[in-house]
Amino acid sequence: MRIDILSVLPELLESPFQHSIMKRAQEKGLLEVKVHQLRKWAVNEYGQVDDYQYGGGAGMVIMCEPLAKAIEELAAQRKYDEIVYLTPDGETLNQKTANTFSLKENLLLICGHYKGIDERIREHFVTKEISIGDYVLSGGELAAAVLVDTIGRLLPGVLNDETSALFDSFQDNLLAPPVYTRPEDFRGWKIPSVLKGGDHKKIEEWRHEQSIIRTKKRRPDILKED
Ligand code: ADE
Repeated sequence: MRIDILSVLPELLESPFQHSIMKRAQEKGLLEVKVHQLRKWAVNEYGQVDDYQYGGGAGMVIMCEPLAKAIEELAAQRKYDEIVYLTPDGETLNQKTANTFSLKENLLLICGHYKGIDERIREHFVTKEISIGDYVLSGGELAAAVLVDTIGRLLPGVLNDETSALFDSFQDNLLAPPVYTRPEDFRGWKIPSVLKGGDHKKIEEWRHEQSIIRTKKRRPDILKED
């Protein structure tokens, strides 16, 4: 999968993809992430990409021209399955959306800043609008990093144990069960004895049961989703 990201602050996206699972995904050639500085398509020699909003009000808006030019130039090089704008008024990201995105080949992500981007770009180029939650970030970069991470780990071959993403929280609309590691007894706090028995069927049953208990208690809303 190839993911292009348009941003006025590419520095914010330098580290998130250079470690751990995202790093491995790229080294294995399963994921390619390219961040583009939007100012490359600035409207003047000062690198301007934003302007005051019509109608007045505080905050700048990213202009049509740099975005349109950038999108058209990138789209001439590859066909994007989705052009995604990260915005707090988008559809809230969940595991199901991430699963769907992970089946795509090329994605273009647009990070907003200040007051956001000119509405006409949303109308004419953007195919999907994604929010990572009901709160406002200073820009779309951190949201883009979250989106790429959640998609990247789902790509076949990225995780060592290929099945492990299947047991993540939210797959099957269930939260993950509790996990334990050594020592077996820490300050008198013991691990559940079923985990020591070596009876894999029993362990799976216990985990499933724990997932249900945890989900009912913490996120009863997701149990009802399909
Ligand atoms: N940009 C600013 N806030 C955001 C959010 N919550 N999700 C996605 N993009 C954003």
